[in-house]
Amino acid sequence: MEELKKLNIEQLLERISQIEFDKANLLKLTSIVLSGVGLVYVSKIWFFYKFFKKRNLKSPKYEFFFGNFRQILKNKNYSEVLRDWTKQYGKTYGYFEGHLPVIVTSDLDIIQEVFIKQSTNFSARKKGFLSRKDDDPNSDLFQSTKGRWKRMRMIMNPTFSSAKIRELGPILVNCADRLIDVLNKDGNEAEINVSEYFKRFTMDSIWNCAFGVDINMQFEKKNDYFSKCEEVFKYSFNLILPQYLGVYLHEFKEEILLILSLIMIFKSKFVDHNKLLPYFWLRTRIGEIVKKRLKQQDQKKKDYIQILLDANNGFNTKKSFDYGEIKKVLSPNEVEANLVLFMLAGYETTSTALSYSTHVLATHPDEQIRLHDEIISAFGNDLSLINSDSVQELEYLDWFVKEVLRFYPIGNSVVARRCTKKTTIKGIDIPVDTPIAVDVLSIHFDADLWGPHDPNEFYPPRHQIKRNPLAFMAFGNGPRNCIGMKFALIELKIALVKLIMNFEFLPKAYHKLNDIELIEGAVRSPKNGITVLLKKRKLF
Ligand code: HEM
Ligand SMILES: *[C@@H]1O[C@H](CO)[C@@H](O)[C@H](O)[C@H]1NC(C)=O
Ligand SMILES: *[C@@H]1O[C@H](CO)[C@@H](O)[C@H](O)[C@H]1NC(C)=O
Ligand SMILES: *[C@@H]1O[C@H](CO)[C@@H](O)[C@H](O)[C@H]1NC(C)=O
Repeated sequence: MEELKKLNIEQLLERISQIEFDKANLLKLTSIVLSGVGLVYVSKIWFFYKFFKKRNLKSPKYEFFFGNFRQILKNKNYSEVLRDWTKQYGKTYGYFEGHLPVIVTSDLDIIQEVFIKQSTNFSARKKGFLSRKDDDPNSDLFQSTKGRWKRMRMIMNPTFSSAKIRELGPILVNCADRLIDVLNKDGNEAEINVSEYFKRFTMDSIWNCAFGVDINMQFEKKNDYFSKCEEVFKYSFNLILPQYLGVYLHEFKEEILLILSLIMIFKSKFVDHNKLLPYFWLRTRIGEIVKKRLKQQDQKKKDYIQILLDANNGFNTKKSFDYGEIKKVLSPNEVEANLVLFMLAGYETTSTALSYSTHVLATHPDEQIRLHDEIISAFGNDLSLINSDSVQELEYLDWFVKEVLRFYPIGNSVVARRCTKKTTIKGIDIPVDTPIAVDVLSIHFDADLWGPHDPNEFYPPRHQIKRNPLAFMAFGNGPRNCIGMKFALIELKIALVKLIMNFEFLPKAYHKLNDIELIEGAVRSPKNGITVLLKKRKLF
């Protein structure tokens, strides 16, 4: 059969080569083929644009080819744009990224179906501007789908259990102590941009907890690892050409990424490593660290790299490794990919949460007093009592952190799923590959869900009342929520306890209350960081 096919193609090619083409003919032929392909593509786009009408969903006015993407990209306030549209078009509506229809909802019944009840029918994330194939062996927990995702998540869930985080507690406390030391050195009675310090603190924590590698990036102002990881995020703010192509020609996202990767792999052989896209740079570094650790298997450490490598031990041959089946092993590629992921997912999110917290403290002196009182009555001045368990017993601090994340949710653009099995949700039929995004702001500021105290006010005690779990979307929801949630909350609490114990935060001069400008890329964060006046407290 194969032979026959080959023969036919060869014969065909021969025929074609025998036809005499002059240049004019060739030009004519190419233009006919191209316009044919173009016509098919354009009619396909037309077809896509009927998506919401067919389903009786409203949608904002769109431009042909661009959809609503230029509106979204213009001001870098995606969350606000979604909320604004919700006000105009109702709880469930749709918009277009290029010609890809995206359903948006803040209807908790629909979210319940998509994120929880039918989560197996929505076993993928909304694709990024560029993305890998669903079964790409290099994809990490965040990007993977279906059986691959399930296997990885089963292996990695215990990695983030309370028991594991307890083991990491002393490392986090140590990193927080360094944060206080650096702030003491640079910032007493001075207005400083704390965001910069918080980024270094969370990055330091991840490197220590994930890799057992201590690079001193809090004290060292110029640090390659730090600046590269930062750049990875900057790229998601300013799209590069391939990313635009990935949006507007979304059918070819995977191919565009593949070509880009091949160029990078080629470049990494010939070009200075520092000129590579930061993600590829990082991946190469992590690969080196993993190889090094594999060589020193005897001295086992208790960090994330070791836990993942232990899962890698069962990995023998390609043959025994069936992606469809749930086996408790990770391939070497997956170990590396997930280590990179921990860093990218854990560092800017958590440091941004600390920045928001500091802003709230500086603008709400009453909150600061209340937290300081709670901390002092729990620990006195005995710093040795502060650990990953004891900080979780501070009730008001817990409400405070949750209220910060309700008021300033950070990862809104990733709270979305993609349909992997055709289904119906509340009467709307959803074809495979349709993304459903959550309008987080509308939910977080819904008075029915968060009242009776005005949701537009910062008010931690509202968390005293048990709320609908779907009303809090800061870490997403369902089996695919943020795997690092517990880790992040403990890290935040340890840092906040130390910060509040050591410093008083005051607004900088001429600062208007609640007047921070936000910007949204991968995370939604204060555009210019947070600058506050630090005043050393007297420890007695
Ligand atoms: C305040 C800090 C953090 C915030 C606000 C945050 C937020 C989020 C959100 C909103 C999601 C999507 C959830 C969903 O789709 O339902 C997510 C997923 C994820 N987060 Fe976090 N995150 C934080 C910290 C961390 C940390 C410290 C780590 C790891 C060290 C981490 C690792 C992940 C991973 C791996 C996923 C993907 C999970 C999956 O697809 O199975 N995050 N995070
Ligand atoms: C997004 O930001 C721009 C510029 O700051 C502003 O004019 C616009 O109103 C914002 N959009 C929404 C929906 O808030
Ligand atoms: C403060 O630091 C953040 C994070 O490094 C940075 O993005 C921001 O531009 C800085 N703000 C100012 C006013 O320098
Ligand atoms: C997934 O969708 C199918 C329809 O394609 C439906 O029959 C099934 O009940 C859904 N799965 C769950 C868990 O609800």
